[in-house]
Amino acid sequence: MKLTKKYIKNVLLQINKCKNIYELNEIKSKNLGKKGFITKKMKFLKEMDLNKRKEFSIFINKIKKKIIKLILNKKNELIEKFSNITLNKSNIDITLSSKEICSGSLHIITKSIYKIQNFFSKLGCEVISGPEIESDYYNFDALNIKKDHPSRDSHDTFWFNKNFLLRTQTSSVQIRSMEVKKPPIRIVVPGKVYRNDSSLTHSPMFHQIEGLIVEKGISFSNLKWIMENFLYDFFKKVYKIRFRNSYFPFTTPSAEIDIFNNKSQKWLEVLGCGMVHPTVLKNVKINSKIYSGCAFGIGIERLIMLKYNLSNIRSFFKNDLRFLKQFK
Ligand code: DAH
Repeated sequence: MKLTKKYIKNVLLQINKCKNIYELNEIKSKNLGKKGFITKKMKFLKEMDLNKRKEFSIFINKIKKKIIKLILNKKNELIEKFSNITLNKSNIDITLSSKEICSGSLHIITKSIYKIQNFFSKLGCEVISGPEIESDYYNFDALNIKKDHPSRDSHDTFWFNKNFLLRTQTSSVQIRSMEVKKPPIRIVVPGKVYRNDSSLTHSPMFHQIEGLIVEKGISFSNLKWIMENFLYDFFKKVYKIRFRNSYFPFTTPSAEIDIFNNKSQKWLEVLGCGMVHPTVLKNVKINSKIYSGCAFGIGIERLIMLKYNLSNIRSFFKNDLRFLKQFK
């Protein structure tokens, strides 16, 4: 085929008629591709004599440029046409606000443990942990809770066998750390504890944070100061609090702290504390004539329930996002 005006006109017409990019690409390769018509014609240039070559070269390059330009214009036109069609088809309303992006957050129990740890870290306490499967010795005996002691019954223990149990209190870690550390000792121990008890306010698994300070000259007034300041830091409110005389085999004197709930007009028990019993110190070979200690045990769920006025301890463990989100 010759490179006549008719041919060129025909190519331009075909480009114009293209309905989609595929048709356009076909025309492009038929003319400008490796084996395309124009490309083939350009190969003849070499064989022409110089005079003709120059003239033909100007001519064919002009045509090539024209075809390229037309193809490009057509391509843009087709792209615009098709993007408008898909936009209209998909019915996207870009004026609508986007979906809420939900990000996770820490559980309120974890958050509270961090908060409590943070307070006690400022008093120089190290955060440590201990095993949840515990021996009779660490959970009871070494804490001065003898085999026949009635307070053992109040713990509703999950026993594995005669010697091993799921720890009922983080107090067991008091013994473990006093065995390996020398005073001065300042520790807090967050963790899970287990008791065979289930109600609105009791769960078979719950969290405690234990505190222990053993140094020269630690007194009940130190303990009182620490507890009052801790409660203020946690609740961020000035509550009426009272230290009520109590009994724990591993502390003497022992106290429970109550806070006054204005809503119910009742005193509510929040935690237990006391001065470490000399027998406990003796069990871990610390001389009670030189050192004294104070200790406390905080029920985390109980504290959170008081702070946020919650009535059912099970809500902490149901994974209901509506409940959990309120503490985000
Ligand atoms: N371990 C006690 C309990 O679970 C709480 C407790 C009371 C811990 C007094 C203490 C303490 O360290 O001094 O009921």
